[in-house]
Amino acid sequence: MKIAIVVGTRPEIIKMSPVIRECEKRNIDFFILHTGQHYSRNMDSIFFEQLELPDAKYNLDIGSSTHGEQTGKMLIGIEEVLEGECPDIALLQGDTNTVLAGAVAASKLGIKVGHVEAGLRSYDRRMPEEINRVLTDHCSDYLFAPTEKSRETLIGEGIPDEKIFVTGNTIVDAVFQNLEIVNNRVDILNDLHLNAGEYFLATVHRQENVDDNKIFEGIIKALECVVEEFGQRVIYPIHPRARKRIEDFDIDANKVELIDPLDYPGFLQLESNARAVLTDSGGVQEETCILNVPCVTLRDNTERPETIEVGSNIIAGTSPEKILDSVRQIIKVEQNWANPFGDGRAGEKIIGILERHV
Ligand code: UD1
Ligand code: UDP
Repeated sequence: MKIAIVVGTRPEIIKMSPVIRECEKRNIDFFILHTGQHYSRNMDSIFFEQLELPDAKYNLDIGSSTHGEQTGKMLIGIEEVLEGECPDIALLQGDTNTVLAGAVAASKLGIKVGHVEAGLRSYDRRMPEEINRVLTDHCSDYLFAPTEKSRETLIGEGIPDEKIFVTGNTIVDAVFQNLEIVNNRVDILNDLHLNAGEYFLATVHRQENVDDNKIFEGIIKALECVVEEFGQRVIYPIHPRARKRIEDFDIDANKVELIDPLDYPGFLQLESNARAVLTDSGGVQEETCILNVPCVTLRDNTERPETIEVGSNIIAGTSPEKILDSVRQIIKVEQNWANPFGDGRAGEKIIGILERHV
């Protein structure tokens, strides 16, 4: 069996790392195809280095663009590589444009498609990620659903049960595998002069939030209100898309501490010691749930409803009043919920299933 592992962005590199490690462990013939959707060092190569991943055999260097242009260029580049390499299966993770391009390119070449993190739905078509998820799931041959709930969603959309495998989410593997490094090698709390449990962490980067002047301004205002009401710092490692919008819209974010995006161990340490996290990220909603840290989601919906059910997360929307109210609520919650995303062996299960079926 030969596997093409396609990645393009920060969360895909992190969430594919357990799958890549498992391929190495079992001596499987695989190669990494990087679309280059993310390319800044702190959004890309830093994760390859720290997670000790092999270099990508191909990097298409596609970079940033409109959705159509970016996805189109990826489709052309991925097709060319897959035609030359003839893998048995292309493995994709998540809901980015890289994933959609990979799914379309592989399925049209008659190469099997495996979708890691299948069956997530926000039911919000304003999100480009929702379109990518639906289309990818419907042209996949192996759908690795993180939870029973995501399996049911797929069945509800008519996808045959025999294509679906509930494996847990590889983010649990990534968190467990990296917490050890966090505890031994990094001390970002010290570097930033923070005490555990006495600061808030924020990440905001979604297109529908940061590309809208009013919405983004409201979110920043909410973060400033958190600083004022609780008298504690809000640290915001800012995604380059959001940094650009702060400048374009000339938003005043003086009370919030904007820092460059962090490497994975550094971010995990800040996340696991925060009093609460305010985010619109998908992966961060999952990680806070796994790390027993309260989370407020700065969106109107989530494709991770398991976090709401166990009580780790509140959907706040984007208005400053509701965000502040949700923070007041979430910090009172007892932090003892069970992690719904699996036992940290998703990578092992995914490769085991492929070895038996492909
Ligand atoms: C993409 C994904 C999103 C995911 C996020 C993870 C899609 C549609 N969106 O959003 O689902 O949550 O990645 O972080 O696939 N930029 C840089 N350096 C980089 C990458 C981006 O400066 O390495 C800046 C550029 O100004 C670019 C902007 O960020 O225009 C947006 O990048 P893009 O890859 O289009 O989308 P993300 O917002 O990163
Ligand atoms: N992350 C990181 N450094 C940061 C911010 C986030 O390593 O400064 C990690 C985080 O731990 C999580 C992933 O990036 O594993 C989430 O990626 P992102 O929020 O960009 O994308 P999403 O999950 O929303 O698609």
